[in-house]
Amino acid sequence: MVVGRRSCWKQLQAAFFRLLCLIPTGFPVRSVDMQRASATDNITIRQGDTAVIRCYVDDKISKVAWLNRSNIIFAGSDKWSLDPRVDLVTKGQLEYSLRIQKVDVYDEGSYTCSIQTKQQPKTSQVYLIVQVPASIYKVSEDITVNEGSNVTLSCLADGRPDPVINWRLLNPSAEPLDGLEYLDIIGIRRNQAGRYECKASNDVATPDVKYVNVIVNYPPAIKTAKSSETQVGRMGVLQCDAAAVPTPEFEWYRDEKRLSNAQGISIQIVGTTTVLMISNVTEEDYGNYTCVATNRLGIQNASLFLYRPGTGRDISGAACVSHSLWLLLASMACLLFKC
Ligand SMILES: *[C@@H]1O[C@H](CO)[C@@H](O)[C@H](O)[C@H]1NC(C)=O
Ligand SMILES: *[C@@H]1O[C@H](CO)[C@@H](O)[C@H](O)[C@H]1NC(C)=O
Ligand SMILES: *[C@@H]1O[C@H](CO)[C@@H](O)[C@H](O)[C@H]1NC(C)=O
Ligand SMILES: *[C@@H]1O[C@H](CO)[C@@H](O)[C@H](O)[C@H]1NC(C)=O
Ligand SMILES: *[C@@H]1O[C@H](CO)[C@@H](O)[C@H](O)[C@H]1NC(C)=O
Ligand SMILES: *[C@@H]1O[C@H](CO)[C@@H](O)[C@H](O)[C@H]1NC(C)=O
Repeated sequence: MVVGRRSCWKQLQAAFFRLLCLIPTGFPVRSVDMQRASATDNITIRQGDTAVIRCYVDDKISKVAWLNRSNIIFAGSDKWSLDPRVDLVTKGQLEYSLRIQKVDVYDEGSYTCSIQTKQQPKTSQVYLIVQVPASIYKVSEDITVNEGSNVTLSCLADGRPDPVINWRLLNPSAEPLDGLEYLDIIGIRRNQAGRYECKASNDVATPDVKYVNVIVNYPPAIKTAKSSETQVGRMGVLQCDAAAVPTPEFEWYRDEKRLSNAQGISIQIVGTTTVLMISNVTEEDYGNYTCVATNRLGIQNASLFLYRPGTGRDISGAACVSHSLWLLLASMACLLFKC
């Protein structure tokens, strides 16, 4: 590549110097010492910025020109380029720098400051590298899938140099995930639900970041079913907690009979928790209850018992009724007893 460009340059420069001979000048060019062409320097600039490519002239009686690849931009102070973004920065006759405003990617390439002096011609060549901040132009939409599905998230970005893509799941650990433009999740599990972060970085500017929310549906599983041991005349409380996405619907049964909010009975549902309250327990209330949790992926039920004091086998649940449940109970008691 470099060799090709160099030899191409030699041809172009030769052509240019022949051209200079045609332009009336005080002193025709006699020889061109191409070996003296200096090594190429790189100038790195961000898209949209203004580039100033410096060129200094040490001999006051000089012919100078700026070239962009094969094109003459300036010959002396004559502007050949039609591009309004381009002008010269001069300081007396000693500086002959090229200014390009609002640099864009197509400006990337070689720029040559060519100086003809009485002693010898010399050129200084600069390679302008145009950088573009990483920018994500396409990212997966938020999705809802069933547990066990294969999921592919995509995140496409451009920029110069090419950005690197990183994925994280923003759960508390937020560890990096293997995946570049495409993140494959085989057999997604419920703990892989959440907010995925895609970050595109190329060190030109702050990375570009986008997010994809992934919801993983799964059927209800009843986590706890709290039975209760309650005296006659007191309030009996039974509680069921289910894990499910989407949030489950709950039903309560006494043996085979479906229960509903009625005199003395209140069913409360808060998120994935349901509470059955019997405001004034009687002998007939003791026995077997069932809570049923349902969502569109499945159904699960659990049996609970309202025990006569002294007959309970599992009252641990009742003993550790949570603080929030107490708040709920207090408000329910208020409703039931019309306070
Ligand atoms: C200019 O950049 C190229 C790659 O873009 C690199 O190979 C070369 O070494 C750089 N030249 C200088 C003088 O930094
Ligand atoms: C340099 O040359 C390229 C290709 O000919 C052109 O697209 C670009 O606008 C030029 N840039 C300047 C600053 O002249
Ligand atoms: C998920 O991907 C694995 C591995 O590529 C494949 O064996 C399986 O059949 C896929 N499952 C579904 C539901 O497409
Ligand atoms: C309680 O009721 C459910 C549903 O009717 C039933 O499946 C379960 O066997 C009963 N449990 C007891 C201990 O009676
Ligand atoms: C509970 O029910 C019994 C019998 O029906 C009744 O005598 C008592 O007043 C009730 N207690 C409350 C607090 O409603
Ligand atoms: C509870 O689930 C069992 C099977 O798991 C089912 O036979 C029974 O009918 C269910 N009870 C209720 C009240 O839905």
